[in-house]
Amino acid sequence: MNVVIRDTYEEMSKVAAGIIAGFVRAKPNCVIGLATGSTPIGTYRELIRMHKEEGLDFSQVRTFNLDEYLGLGMDLDKPYHLDQSYARFMYEELFKHINIPKENTLVPDGLAQDPQAYCQWYEEQIAAAGGIDIQVLGIGGDGHWGFNEPGSSLASRTRVVALTQKTLDDNYESFYKNAGFSRDEMPKFAITMGIGTILEARNAIMLANGAHKAGIVAKAIEGPVIAQITATAMHLYRGEMTIILDKAAASKLENIDHYLHVERAMRELHK
Ligand code: PGA
Repeated sequence: MNVVIRDTYEEMSKVAAGIIAGFVRAKPNCVIGLATGSTPIGTYRELIRMHKEEGLDFSQVRTFNLDEYLGLGMDLDKPYHLDQSYARFMYEELFKHINIPKENTLVPDGLAQDPQAYCQWYEEQIAAAGGIDIQVLGIGGDGHWGFNEPGSSLASRTRVVALTQKTLDDNYESFYKNAGFSRDEMPKFAITMGIGTILEARNAIMLANGAHKAGIVAKAIEGPVIAQITATAMHLYRGEMTIILDKAAASKLENIDHYLHVERAMRELHK
């Protein structure tokens, strides 16, 4: 596992976008796992810039998103702020700005008739695409990956889950309040890839920024592996796992000097 620390959110986002772009250039038909939330927005902006200014080509890329609220689906007739689906988020924050074919982008369908059967189908689609080459992850205030809330099995698969009060509160503050929704209008369930699903990605990056994430980031990176903080599954990754933080999110790490040293040393090695 590599821990990369940058002074600002912008620099952190550039590192993340650079890694993703590296996959797209090396394997134009690569499969990318994507995340929503406020954290990856800077990364997506940088990928959009690379597409527009440097011709980064997404025409053969396939994407799978981590999660979606149950009961929500993209509705382009609504203004963005009134459509809180993650499908809409991806469309507005990334897909509509790059040359990825719509049929290559899969976000779990929150309106699926039979959500359990749909989750099985979603897993099959990932497998049929040859698995995920690079998975983008954030980390929730409660330590979740996707919507794998505390206590989720570290071997879990794509499934329907109930959201914790902490997640509902976090998402209410960051999204729903701005859109003028009440707490009661927030979906309380979601479809999420499981931790077991996420761990099968061949590579992953996890992003976190801001002082409000420092405590949970330190527990996830330096604490024991526990189902109460599902992001601790990072320690079970077989592939290359890179944690990319801004200084504020890294501020509670005990071994920060070590991570800075390792990054410098690795850069020397690859010169
Ligand atoms: P955030 O959400 O990027 O909005 O902080 C992260 C998450 O819940 O995974």
